[in-house]
Amino acid sequence: MTMNKTISILLLTLIATSALAATGEETYNTTCANCHAKGLAGAPQTGDKKAWGKLIKEGQVELTADGYGGVRAMPAKGGRAELTVAEFAGAVVFMANKAGANWQEADDTMLKKINARIEKRAQAKK
Ligand code: HEC
Repeated sequence: MTMNKTISILLLTLIATSALAATGEETYNTTCANCHAKGLAGAPQTGDKKAWGKLIKEGQVELTADGYGGVRAMPAKGGRAELTVAEFAGAVVFMANKAGANWQEADDTMLKKINARIEKRAQAKK
């Protein structure tokens, strides 16, 4: 394979990956920051270690699933119906880490657990 071909394939892969899913930071900026940047309506403010400390203790699976389903003034999926669980999870990681956590992007195993909990919560609400 020529060098040029290798490089174009690499570039295409990069473009394809970034088009597929927004990063946690991107999702945060486009969706979550509206409320969480300033702590609107009682939202735990980004970087507020006290407010997030309690939430971080709930654990990544629980916190992500609960937030995705909506909690009181927090709208389900941050108010964006098309947001995937993986995208939402990335934004939660971004905010938790801004408040001192050291969470990793949810992998497939964790996403399965998050999905199971979202499903359980939805059943309980019915
Ligand atoms: C319309 C405003 C609004 C938007 C947009 C929003 N949030 Fe929230 N969020 C809130 C409020 C208000 C709370 C506090 C809810 C409470 O405890 O009463 C909250 C709480 C949370 C919690 C804590 C849930 C818990 O278990 O207590 C998480 C996690 C969260 N938001 C994540 C996100 C993410 C990720 C996004 C973006 C994808 C987002 N939020 C977008 C308003 C918002």
